[in-house]
Amino acid sequence: MTWLQRPVRAAFDIAELGLDRVFSQHWNPLHHLGALGFFMYWIVAASGIYLYIFFDTGITAAYSSVEYMTNDQWYLAGVMRSLHRYASDAMVLFMVIHMAREFGLDRYRGVRWFTWSTGVPIIVLLFVCGITGYWLVWDQLAQFVAVRSTEWLDWLPIFGTPTAANFLTPESLDDRFFSLMIFIHIAAPLILLLILWIHLQRVSRPQINPPRGLAVGMFAMMLALSLVMPATSHAPADLSTVVSVVRLDWYYLGLYPLMDYWSAGTVWAALTVVLLTVMFLPWMPPMRRAATARVYLDHCNGCVRCVDDCPFGAVSMVPRTDGAKFAEEALVDPDLCVSCGICVGACPSSTPFRRRGEIVTGIDLPDFSLADLRAATEAAAEALDGEGRVLVFGCAHGPRPSKKGGTTAFVTLPCIGMLPPSFIDYTLSRGLADGVMLSGCAEDACYHRFGAEWTDARVDRQRDPQLRRRVPRERVRRHWAGRAEGKALSAEIERFADGLRQLGPAASDPLPPSSERILETVESDG
Ligand code: HEM
Ligand code: SF4
Ligand code: SF4
Repeated sequence: MTWLQRPVRAAFDIAELGLDRVFSQHWNPLHHLGALGFFMYWIVAASGIYLYIFFDTGITAAYSSVEYMTNDQWYLAGVMRSLHRYASDAMVLFMVIHMAREFGLDRYRGVRWFTWSTGVPIIVLLFVCGITGYWLVWDQLAQFVAVRSTEWLDWLPIFGTPTAANFLTPESLDDRFFSLMIFIHIAAPLILLLILWIHLQRVSRPQINPPRGLAVGMFAMMLALSLVMPATSHAPADLSTVVSVVRLDWYYLGLYPLMDYWSAGTVWAALTVVLLTVMFLPWMPPMRRAATARVYLDHCNGCVRCVDDCPFGAVSMVPRTDGAKFAEEALVDPDLCVSCGICVGACPSSTPFRRRGEIVTGIDLPDFSLADLRAATEAAAEALDGEGRVLVFGCAHGPRPSKKGGTTAFVTLPCIGMLPPSFIDYTLSRGLADGVMLSGCAEDACYHRFGAEWTDARVDRQRDPQLRRRVPRERVRRHWAGRAEGKALSAEIERFADGLRQLGPAASDPLPPSSERILETVESDG
């Protein structure tokens, strides 16, 4: 699938760069697609409830009640109708971009299969909501949708008498059939909400609300659109005529023209193949997963930090099994762990201030352990040369500097959240570099969800484990940006190095590493 993912990812990299500049990283809509989907859902739900107050559920009265809302009460019910339609369209748009982004970023395979595959019923239900919604207006578009949909449904051998027969003559349609549509139009969004809840079961602290500024901006745009281009109806449905020309809503009804060219059976087959392909995409091919996090009980004191920081709810606390004095121990569920290493960065036992053979922590990644991280740090530092030496700890999914070597060295982690703050202290206090730069994905767009956010909080001493006070803050710089911003990262490193040259070399700590030092580092200032 990489042949398909690569262009999708490149397109998102460029789009994110552009939108970061227009909206700022925090308000970039591409960083909040799922949350924007939810926001649209609430607008649709609130406007739908209002519309229902004025909507007449009889076949003959439905059209005139919608006309009343659109023309007579245009300032409120009319605006609500337009909001209902435009927010529904926007929900499809955000969903499609959200799917494409998760696919392009390769965040749909491995343990993420569950979140991806539960997205498929969401697609189906969203379309059921939209199609039944168009039906209720009972104008010529509704007639077109009703006739095509029922002809299509009748291909399935589930109804005794063909449902399309309801639309043969004006007399053949009764209120009961219409009431069924209303029932489906109300039930489907409720089931959709339930499936959205299931969709987020494996995502810890899901972001379901966009930042307030973005939400206000989006709402204002919808409102302006509703006032400038209010949603209107076609002429009333007339079953004695055949509808020939309609203005389609391509978000929901884009597939309907296909029915002119393909038989109902072919459309069913194509749709089934597409949906099944999307559903089973996580196994085409399956992800080659890195070894999942492992707990080392000798170094686990049951502090719960790894549970709090894991973005995927993969760690839980269970009663102690090794007889140690602590009540609980951490336990990793390998079916949920994405091997991001954020728990390693959270663990108070993760410190580089130990002798080489002693680097073991409470929770670690077998494929890239804390000992490997320290070895990589030392190797990178050795390669540094000149004045204003910068050691960059960077996330594998964030930007890469366009220039390395000389005064810049790069240590790559699976996620910047894997870096325990004590590594910054270690690098500077040992004089391994004159400054430390932390680099990772743009704000609110962390590949592993919370890496950048937890790192900021740890450095700012708002979250454990905190960066020690003694670390000179002028020698620590953070840079969060999209993958396409390698040049900007290099420029930032250059500016940082210039500042470090003015400051002079980092003062090297004269004390040798010892177990006393570990206690001092971990406990005295944590
Ligand atoms: C309108 C419908 C949808 C809404 C409102 C929605 C909402 C969300 C939200 C709020 C998140 C969590 C984001 C976070 O906090 O990091 C999420 C994650 C995700 N969604 Fe959706 N989603 C929708 C449809 C879909 C569909 C159709 C698919 C794919 C078929 C999909 C695939 C995913 C995946 C793979 C993730 C997990 C990303 C990760 O593990 O980091 N979503 N969704
Ligand atoms: S490696 Fe990441 S996903 Fe796995 S347990 Fe640690 S924090 Fe959770
Ligand atoms: S953060 Fe470390 S010490 Fe705390 S519970 Fe997790 S593994 Fe144990």
